[in-house]
Amino acid sequence: MADDLIFPVAASKAEKYEALIPQIKGLLTGEKNLIANMANICAALKEGLGFFWVGFYLVDSPEELVLGPFQGPVACTRIKKGNGVCGSSWEKAEAIIVPDVDKFPGHIACSSASKSEIVIPVFNDAQISGILDVDSDELNAFDEIDKEYLERIVRLISVG
Ligand code: SME
Repeated sequence: MADDLIFPVAASKAEKYEALIPQIKGLLTGEKNLIANMANICAALKEGLGFFWVGFYLVDSPEELVLGPFQGPVACTRIKKGNGVCGSSWEKAEAIIVPDVDKFPGHIACSSASKSEIVIPVFNDAQISGILDVDSDELNAFDEIDKEYLERIVRLISVG
């Protein structure tokens, strides 16, 4: 059974991630269902770090991502490989930090309130099975600290 998450007050971003990761590990322990685990990761990240939107896009075909578990306002359901930030991350097989979404060519705006974004690929046996997408309603919200911790969190549900 899941308990309420506990977060340090007045903590730095790194301290918040440090407090969150063991709690996420606890939520995932004993549960193999990927959708359930992705759903709890989204909820924990949104509640713990206060992001505007947190969600997964899942590889649905060789050319297309489909919206998976998320927390936040409604979002576009399908993204083609190479399109937008998520499709670019999938094509390049790497994380992307976007300090200002208006300056990212081809950015897909699901909400006009989203100002900056970070996306992290989820791997399954060296293949990308999905993309974690985190949006902020502030410019320049993400840096290497977010990349490092979000990659650690995504590895908790990666295979291989
Ligand atoms: N901005 C993303 C689309 C997904 S939403 O941000 C939820 C992109 O350009 O791929």
